Amino acid sequence: MPTNSLTITKPDDWHVHLRDGDMLKQVASYTARQFGRAIIMPNLKPPVTTAVMAAAYRERILQATRDYPDFEPLMTAYLTDTIDAQELRTGYSEGIFTAAKLYPANATTNSAAGVSDIKKIYPVLEVMQEIGMPLLVHGEVVSKNIDIFDREAAFIDAIMQPLLHDMPELKVVFEHITTKDAADFVEASAGNIAATITAHHLQINRNDMLVGGIKPHLYCLPVAKREVHRLALRRVATSGNGKFFLGTDSAPHAVHDKESACGCAGIFSAPNALENYVQVFDEENALDKFEAFASLNGSAFYGLPVNQGKITLQCQPQDVVSVIGEKELAISPYRAGEVLRWRISDN
Ligand code: DOR
Ligand code: ZN
Repeated sequence: MPTNSLTITKPDDWHVHLRDGDMLKQVASYTARQFGRAIIMPNLKPPVTTAVMAAAYRERILQATRDYPDFEPLMTAYLTDTIDAQELRTGYSEGIFTAAKLYPANATTNSAAGVSDIKKIYPVLEVMQEIGMPLLVHGEVVSKNIDIFDREAAFIDAIMQPLLHDMPELKVVFEHITTKDAADFVEASAGNIAATITAHHLQINRNDMLVGGIKPHLYCLPVAKREVHRLALRRVATSGNGKFFLGTDSAPHAVHDKESACGCAGIFSAPNALENYVQVFDEENALDKFEAFASLNGSAFYGLPVNQGKITLQCQPQDVVSVIGEKELAISPYRAGEVLRWRISDN
């Protein structure tokens, strides 16, 4: 008998971009209506580098999500070459920062102020290791010589492996993994490493983005890879392994910034995030593993309690709207105009 309804512990989104200003006001409730907590990315302009900035940003998020008073944003610090270890130590001990984010300089949107050489922040990482503060990693090597489809695999050899060797106690989340290389690496690692996986990397490969015309709304970083990689991600996500958990990487950009001669990277998946994930688990006959991936594994890795509430999903079709917002703020959501097989129950 097919399962028509699934009730699970309220999930968390361990990686999301909520932006700021009018865009924040427009997008935040899509995340807050489904998730108990969310790890908020700090790549604003200017980036969130101090506890004071993070606390103020957190207030703006709470204001934007006031219709969902149980929603808890978990703030992150943006690591730069010159970030002050004391700032992280204080911000973490005061509960303002939950984690810190490593963007290799120029790897992606608003990452110009990121880290140019990981060795420069080794003293900061040693403090994070000591206090138990998780390091969230955008794992791509930035180099003209390294093909964009190889940048994640190259990062494992060049940065991730030496880092885990040098900081064996550091908690590391390999964010939005896109390759079999990363899935196998995290699965095989003994250390304190976990990985988030997006819904879109479980659903699309690079053909979806490039065959039959370029689809700018499926362009994100790390970019979708070959089919063999998508299948490896589906295998580990639905395996029940506690090292893998949900992180949407929902990253809204206005339509005019996506449909451009130099289109921005990012997929706005927040509106139907859970429905897309659950469809993957359904297709893989792994609905019994969905709660672990969506609601339990992440909080266990971060050392946080699981959420109190529940959420129910129903196997009932729904249409994805073609556009959200208007004029300068219009955004095309992930799978705009398509029909999804699952929906969040209103009851
Ligand atoms: O596709 C992406 N969009 N990848 C990132 O790493 C950043 C994000 C954004 O902020 O737009
Ligand atoms: Zn991201």
